[in-house]
Amino acid sequence: MTDVPAREFTTVGVIGLGTMGAGIAEVFARNGHRVIGVEVTDAAVERGRQHLEHSTGRAVKRGKMTEEQQDEILGRITLTTEMKDLAVADLVVEAVVESLEVKKAIFRTLDSIVDPEAVLATNTSSLSVTEISTANSRPGRVVGVHFFNPAPVQNLVEVIRTVVTEPQVLADVVDLLRDLGKNPVVCGDKAGFIANTLLFGYLNHAVAMYEGKYASREDIDAAMRFGCGYPMGPLALLDLIGLDTAYEILDTMYKQGRDRLHAPAPLLKQYVTAGLLGRKSGRGFYTYEAPDSPVVV
Ligand code: NAI
Repeated sequence: MTDVPAREFTTVGVIGLGTMGAGIAEVFARNGHRVIGVEVTDAAVERGRQHLEHSTGRAVKRGKMTEEQQDEILGRITLTTEMKDLAVADLVVEAVVESLEVKKAIFRTLDSIVDPEAVLATNTSSLSVTEISTANSRPGRVVGVHFFNPAPVQNLVEVIRTVVTEPQVLADVVDLLRDLGKNPVVCGDKAGFIANTLLFGYLNHAVAMYEGKYASREDIDAAMRFGCGYPMGPLALLDLIGLDTAYEILDTMYKQGRDRLHAPAPLLKQYVTAGLLGRKSGRGFYTYEAPDSPVVV
């Protein structure tokens, strides 16, 4: 965009202060934005506050910020249980539970609260941004912003444009994310977006290869680590992600896109049904002594 000056997003609302929302609030506050974080109950607000204090406290311990900077960052964040406090926000990022009903209800409520010029974003990882946007009377001002976990550390943000997202809104959000030091990439509204569509097709193929007894799990993982330079092999990575989570992601993508690359390998379903969920349950493709211990066979 050439002529139009970059839009200022002074105040950013973040709805939901769980794993992702707290991290997203921190990212904006670290970069000088005022943040209004909304949660459902006082207890959830308190959890969000602790998450923020813990995360920034860790950065202080690691020498990545001073205590003064931590105080400044936390001082820019106001936490509330009142959605109406978002009236002053230029941008609202929704990061509540992955439920279409809950997200649509929020976008409906925002309609009567935020300024008509405000930009509305959802951090959904698998739901239709288009469908969420239709709950609001200004779907042209809605985008997906898919931050990766943990948001303060991971640099990639996938920006999802629907068929009605206004080009200027998209450009403004991309500019803003660059200002935050992130690497935004833009894609259409299809479950999985860019990274998970490619990654999970590959992971699923590795399970099918193992299921077909073509190669051992160790050799499949070693081939990708030593041959392709990946930090982890696909089966070890699936154990880390959680086989239940991986199954859900594949299933959602397959049901939406019908790409056979995403039809979950039968063995994955069998493992999940048997309770072999990977590291978190102590056993998946590999067996683990303790949830976070190194791999033992
Ligand atoms: P989470 O369960 O940790 O946090 C969700 C928070 O939303 C909870 O604190 C809950 O109290 C709050 N909440 C629920 N309904 C609310 C409402 N009506 N108003 C305000 N707050 C409400 O979930 P998480 O993991 O942070 O995920 C949030 C979103 O981010 C989901 O859409 C998820 O798919 C997406 N996502 C998650 C990633 C992850 O690794 N966890 C990665 C990228 C995206």
